[in-house]
Amino acid sequence: MSHISRLNVISGHLKDEQEEEYVDELTSNNVNADAKKETLTVIDNRTGKQYNIKIKNQTISALAFREISEQKGDNGLVVYDPAFQNTAVVTSTITYIDGDKGILRYRGFPIEELAERSSFLEVAYLLINGNLPNKSQLDGWSHKIMTHTFLHENLVGLMKSFRYDAHPMGMLISTVAALGTFYPEANPALAGQDIFKSENVRNKQMFRIIGKLPTIAACAWRHRIGRPYNTPVNHLGYTENFLYMLDKLSEQDYKPNPVLCRALEILFILHADHELNCSTAAMRHISSSNTDPYTAVAGAAGALYGPLHGGANEAVLDMLQQIGTKENVGQFVADVKAKKKKLMGFGHRIYKNYDPRAKIVRRVAYEVFESLGKEPLIEVATELERQALNDEYFVTRKLYPNVDFYSGLIYKAMGFPTDMFPVLFTIPRAVGWLAHWIEHHEDPETKIYRPRQVYKGEWFRNYVPIEGRPPAKVRTQESYSSATTKRYSKVTGSGAQ
Ligand code: CMC
Repeated sequence: MSHISRLNVISGHLKDEQEEEYVDELTSNNVNADAKKETLTVIDNRTGKQYNIKIKNQTISALAFREISEQKGDNGLVVYDPAFQNTAVVTSTITYIDGDKGILRYRGFPIEELAERSSFLEVAYLLINGNLPNKSQLDGWSHKIMTHTFLHENLVGLMKSFRYDAHPMGMLISTVAALGTFYPEANPALAGQDIFKSENVRNKQMFRIIGKLPTIAACAWRHRIGRPYNTPVNHLGYTENFLYMLDKLSEQDYKPNPVLCRALEILFILHADHELNCSTAAMRHISSSNTDPYTAVAGAAGALYGPLHGGANEAVLDMLQQIGTKENVGQFVADVKAKKKKLMGFGHRIYKNYDPRAKIVRRVAYEVFESLGKEPLIEVATELERQALNDEYFVTRKLYPNVDFYSGLIYKAMGFPTDMFPVLFTIPRAVGWLAHWIEHHEDPETKIYRPRQVYKGEWFRNYVPIEGRPPAKVRTQESYSSATTKRYSKVTGSGAQ
């Protein structure tokens, strides 16, 4: 978006307060010159009526279409937008993305500058409070977060009860949901509907979630490798403490590698927010029912976990491992073009240009390799990127590497197994979720989320008693076998596999 059009958007915001309704039904003689400029005229060919819908901030109100009815009482038109491909559901001041130009800014600051010069806790302050802190504000903020890192022993007990090979994301999601049960004062069902109007109540939960997530993540990791959980060390930095909790064994004064601390800081900064991506939209959606933020963060983390979103870095590594060598890249690209495979870590709903985060991650990857040795799969990744960026299939579809293409290689070089990757994404993204949670609670325009649907099902049927029904048409009822069903089938002689 150009500087001028950005100014138009800003002045559009200023004008908003005095604006009237989005829609005026028009007759041809009341279309004046001004209305023509800032409106969209819709002609309903079913009725011949014209409607003049106001354009504000480059948007038109979906509710305005409700006025466009064929006959009285038909509830008007609904805007159909599967997967929210072109629907704005909030006005936000947190993150700005221009997908065509590859621009990402937090509260107006370019991501490149923040990644170069800032720290993760400073960026967290920026995202949540709107401005960069001064020294004493940052010290106070860091102190608050770093003094909310410990877990209740019962929660530790809960984590210990997981199976030895539990996926760490499953552990994280369940533990964050369980965390809420320790704070009844933050549960609207127990403490009252209006509790999140209080900034103090919101702040407390925010410090707890940001402070405790690295501890939960580190416990999930230690659980998996069968080592005792470490308690946090609050005078360390945020990522330093996280690496400490992950790795300390019996060393007297264990100090995590500063190169890795900085690399993780940068990765955390890059992942902290990305406006209304799938998980942040989920955070807002769940929060809109006024549930507690622990439940909402657990739900958002569930959305993040999928391989099309935050689980993509895990999927990228699996893909690179399957390709194996540079020589196999050509065949893999051919399979992607034949739609037999998907090139994970490529493509984005918003970016139709190189994801600015991917450029930074690629640079950081080489810095980490200098310290830890080169991850051999980088050869496969760079060859894959080279071939894809020169191939008509990817060029015409504007498919470029996204943030997940290289981040997994850094995590692998740092010794994380692939199932820890989405956990490493969740820790920083929780900051973005909380910034949106706060914005949601301060926004007078928001209500409980409730999208509409187009109903195409059976119109009306009378209940038939079971004896009188023909066999129902159903989808296949076959399922994967498990040890239990196999044993069961041997006993019963049933063919269930
Ligand atoms: N590999 C091969 N083809 C692709 C890919 C890909 N990664 N991404 C999109 N396409 C093709 C797609 O098949 C379609 O082709 P056609 O027009 O012939 O049907 C066209 O490009 C448009 O794709 P789309 O599926 O309509 O795009 P979308 O906006 O719905 O999906 C996406 C965006 C990110 C889910 C998708 O690009 C994808 O699945 N990428 C791989 C997963 C991935 O890397 N996800 C991480 C996203 S960034 C971090 C995050 O969000 O957490």
